[in-house]
Amino acid sequence: MTTGNVRPADMERITTPELAQKFIDEQISELRAQIGDKKVLLALSGGVDSSVVAALLIKAVGKQLVSVHVNHGLLRKGEPEQVVRVFRDELDANLVYVDATDRFLDKLAGVADPEQKRKIIGAEFIRVFEEEARKLSGISFLAQGTIYPDIVESGPVKSHHNVGGLPEDLQFELVEPIKLLFKDEVRVVGKQLGLPDNMVFRQPFPGPGLGVRCTGAITRDRLEALRESDAILREEFAKNGLEGKVWQYFTIVPDYKSTGVKDNKRSWDWPVIIRAVNTRDAMTATIEEIPYALLHHITQRIITEVPGVNRVLYDLTPKPTGTIEWE
Ligand code: XMP
Repeated sequence: MTTGNVRPADMERITTPELAQKFIDEQISELRAQIGDKKVLLALSGGVDSSVVAALLIKAVGKQLVSVHVNHGLLRKGEPEQVVRVFRDELDANLVYVDATDRFLDKLAGVADPEQKRKIIGAEFIRVFEEEARKLSGISFLAQGTIYPDIVESGPVKSHHNVGGLPEDLQFELVEPIKLLFKDEVRVVGKQLGLPDNMVFRQPFPGPGLGVRCTGAITRDRLEALRESDAILREEFAKNGLEGKVWQYFTIVPDYKSTGVKDNKRSWDWPVIIRAVNTRDAMTATIEEIPYALLHHITQRIITEVPGVNRVLYDLTPKPTGTIEWE
């Protein structure tokens, strides 16, 4: 059983489907030995790490895994639907889906400070998860998508990381089947488990989600403009071969307006800012050179398809001096 937190020097890097299958087979028997006939709880975000852990556990212990997907209302377009489709409909998982959008947005109303927003989102997430855990009986284990860099690295990504812990009466024994894997290995395993490409190869997405891209105090209409413009950007990047090439790309909708003109009338609407960066470790980042014609096309789509938007800007700032996120 994988007990230690140190990757053995002779552990082979998982680079092929065959090696992934070997890992999967080993994990299935280890998980069965560890879990027996008990129940396991998992917070399933839909990100690659928790999705791979869920798929492994479903193979190992089937319905003894209870996955909880909390929709905090700050997910990207189509994400919660995909989690339900893949895990409940296709993999027949025991999935609890909680739409907590109103709770989160009510708590965030009027809160403009970025760190305060993060704290509220993190604390509320724990609270919702805790409530769901209390409704379930007979849970013995908590599964987590911890990966090796989470254990060995402390960089800007992890210092942001997010939530506190569960209260004492919900301290379960941990199940961390991918804790010795690097991200690229997790992806090879995920692909071998049959998870969809857009789940396995998806770009990093922060825990507070769209919350840190809808700058200042979040409003529902601005959040909607953000979600729609982000969906257009992702669709166009996928169509134009940039999906796997650019490390992280998204839109931001700031909390101020500017004058414009639409249908021969003066408008007073938000700008949408596009950010597309490349990096190795998120400590520094460079700007992706997007073809001008594509930028024009994306701009045209956003200003015609997204209500409340009259301008599109492209952020050319590297990190440093700009962080990747705007908040
Ligand atoms: P920055 O903006 O600090 O981001 O250059 C570096 C990387 O970290 C991600 N990020 C976060 N991830 N919770 C997360 O889980 C957060 O609060 C958070 N803030 C930033 C960011 O998307 C980028 O990949």
